[in-house]
Amino acid sequence: MTEIQSHTVGGIRHKTVGYLGGKRLESPEIACDLLLARLLGCRHLEVALHNADVLSPPRVEAMRRAVKRLADGEPVQYILGETEFMGHRIKVDRRVLIPRPETEVLVSTVLACAELWKQPEVRVTDVGTGSGCIAVSIARERPQARLLALDISEEALELARENAAKLGVDGQIVFACAEMADVLEPETVDIVVSNPPYVRSFDWERLAPQVRDYEPRVALDGGKSGLDIIAAVAEDAMIALREGGGLFLEVGAGQAQEVASMLESCDYRDVAVIRDLAGCERIVSARRG
Ligand SMILES: C[S@@+](CC[C@H](N)C(=O)[O-])C[C@H]1O[C@@H](n2cnc3c(N)ncnc32)[C@H](O)[C@@H]1O
Repeated sequence: MTEIQSHTVGGIRHKTVGYLGGKRLESPEIACDLLLARLLGCRHLEVALHNADVLSPPRVEAMRRAVKRLADGEPVQYILGETEFMGHRIKVDRRVLIPRPETEVLVSTVLACAELWKQPEVRVTDVGTGSGCIAVSIARERPQARLLALDISEEALELARENAAKLGVDGQIVFACAEMADVLEPETVDIVVSNPPYVRSFDWERLAPQVRDYEPRVALDGGKSGLDIIAAVAEDAMIALREGGGLFLEVGAGQAQEVASMLESCDYRDVAVIRDLAGCERIVSARRG
């Protein structure tokens, strides 16, 4: 990276955004402000208010190192070690997928299903918990939720446990290194929610380098059709859910209709497809008949 000449926040912002723009980063302004906000101890939308502040040499050096990592392609969330999800600060690192905004739609859909939240205790299974973002967000919003959060990555579970403890909901969540089939107890669960891996193995090489080179493959690769794990979760949930229990799945762009047909053919009822904020069919929900 070229030397940052001026040590004012405004000068550093100007040079950093120009430099990262040349690296074809998607949102260089946001990435730059997120890094500066960390150094300044403010929110990223407030960074511009500090344009005239002068950064100390150690902070300029910290910024230089972080910008180098960004320019190399590392996602800003891994550099910061956290991201925001459903209004919570979730710790992330290369052990887990970075939670995406579309998964907030999945959580909101689960929370909005009032019928499923009437009991004094609601048993929820989160399949492929990763950072634990779904499980902890549900636990924070619904004190009556008792969650089982599953993942086949022990590394991911370590971080998910940290997130649950940090957000004060570890008492509501049991974490287990398992696939759903390993822990099935027929008709014991009220809600199954999952954002499973759904990228076709064939498409792996075509993913953006920021994703392919940094995020765990086990979190993304959904097998030959992309639907291998979704199909397994749908079958297992049919056994685990009580009658009327809800299944909520996040799916890849272009997969929703196929998944909806799959659920109908597995005898689920009330199959619905919900769009994300970008208008893409993203969530498929259903009830066990
Ligand atoms: C797309 S990530 C989702 C992580 C997190 N729930 C989120 O929404 O950000 C999928 C997660 O599923 C886990 N996983 C992959 N195959 C699995 C399986 N067969 N059973 C349970 N978890 C699995 C991965 O380790 C990864 O953490």
